[in-house]
Amino acid sequence: MNNFKYRNPTKILFGKGQIENLPAEIPVNAKVLMLYGGGSIKKNGIYDQVKKALSGYEVVEFGGIPANPEYSVLLDALKVIKEEKITYLLAVGGGSVIDGTKFLSAAALYQGETPWDLLTNKKPVTEGLPFGTVLTLPATGSEMNSGSVITRAETQEKLAFGGPGMFPQFSVLDPEVIKSIPQRQLANGIADAFTHVMEQYMTYPIGALLQDRFAESIMQTLIEVAPAIMKDPSDYQAACNFMWSCTMALNGLIQQGVPGDWAIHSMGHELTAMYGIDHARTLAILAGNHYRYNFGTKKEKLAQYAERVWNITEGSLEEKAHAGIDKTDEFFKSLGIDIKLSDYTKDYSETGNIIAKRFIDRGWMGLGEHKLLAPADVQKIIEMSY
Ligand code: NZQ
Ligand code: ZN
Repeated sequence: MNNFKYRNPTKILFGKGQIENLPAEIPVNAKVLMLYGGGSIKKNGIYDQVKKALSGYEVVEFGGIPANPEYSVLLDALKVIKEEKITYLLAVGGGSVIDGTKFLSAAALYQGETPWDLLTNKKPVTEGLPFGTVLTLPATGSEMNSGSVITRAETQEKLAFGGPGMFPQFSVLDPEVIKSIPQRQLANGIADAFTHVMEQYMTYPIGALLQDRFAESIMQTLIEVAPAIMKDPSDYQAACNFMWSCTMALNGLIQQGVPGDWAIHSMGHELTAMYGIDHARTLAILAGNHYRYNFGTKKEKLAQYAERVWNITEGSLEEKAHAGIDKTDEFFKSLGIDIKLSDYTKDYSETGNIIAKRFIDRGWMGLGEHKLLAPADVQKIIEMSY
């Protein structure tokens, strides 16, 4: 097991009715900017619940943060923060609103030339305006981690940043919010969280027995609750298990002391930036082929995954590992997710080449747990996924 230092300061308020408890978490004299997305919270009652809980506060609102939070929209919100002298940010939404809020938290205190530097300078952000979240869509884990992914349409970029100053102070996880989530987003949430676990697990054996078991149990739980939550998102027990699994998949716990891959995400972000494909669907397009392409270095963990998560006990190590990959593809398909790039766009003949060039331009010469996945390999994996 590798050395690690682990600290996660985000307080979780989990369960029915927890939105009511917001006032206990936000300083009484705070001037709050409440941030949200395209309006789902106004239809499902979450907006009213939050407004009621915040009735004792001075609250300014900023709605309209789109899925894949867009830099130019966030710059408008940044103006509001400065003009209104906001002291506290409250994200009410999914990963996009939360990530946008993290960016604003950092940008509000950033002294450099342009806030886009935060996405390109690779410096961990150590301070930001304080913020909390009310999660409305389990998927990304952003509610309990310090990462954020921001999109810039103008340049077709989608880049990540983060740092110890980017943890939410608290997050409200009320599984009742799940009942209004459309099928497409439920499937996305399951697939995204599942892939988060795989990115931290499907590397090479390092003797981290507990981290492996944590990871496997999260994947098993997602597989177990997926049919129930897809059938009936108002099934409260299924919703609880779905929501907590998504948070646990990417709150740092299972990453401690073990190598991480994350190449599927790096490649996937490009597909979203180029074609607007939902984040989770880009992962489903790439995951199986990433594992097929890197079979030699990942087969031990793939076989362990096949055995422990999918109960595949027959065959050689290689046969089990291949069966594990096929099971993963089938799982995504069982959620109604298409797993080929050509299912989403007809304009794909040069995609692999274009993304490889982008990685070269950025100096991303070696991705993955061994830092050996070169742009030429990235190109091949993407071409396998057409
Ligand atoms: O915008 P509104 O109207 O609110 O609708 C949203 C949005 O259209 C809707 N929605 C959310 N909660 C709902 C709901 N609809 C009905 N009922 C509810 N309760 O769902 C749509 C998608 O929302 P979004 O926030 O974009 O989804 P998600 O949580 O999947 O976030 C995706 C973003 O997070 C990034 C992705 O790259 C993408 O930009 N990620 C962030 C990570 C992190 N910070 O750690 C890690 C992930 O790997 C990922 O990269
Ligand atoms: Zn993800």
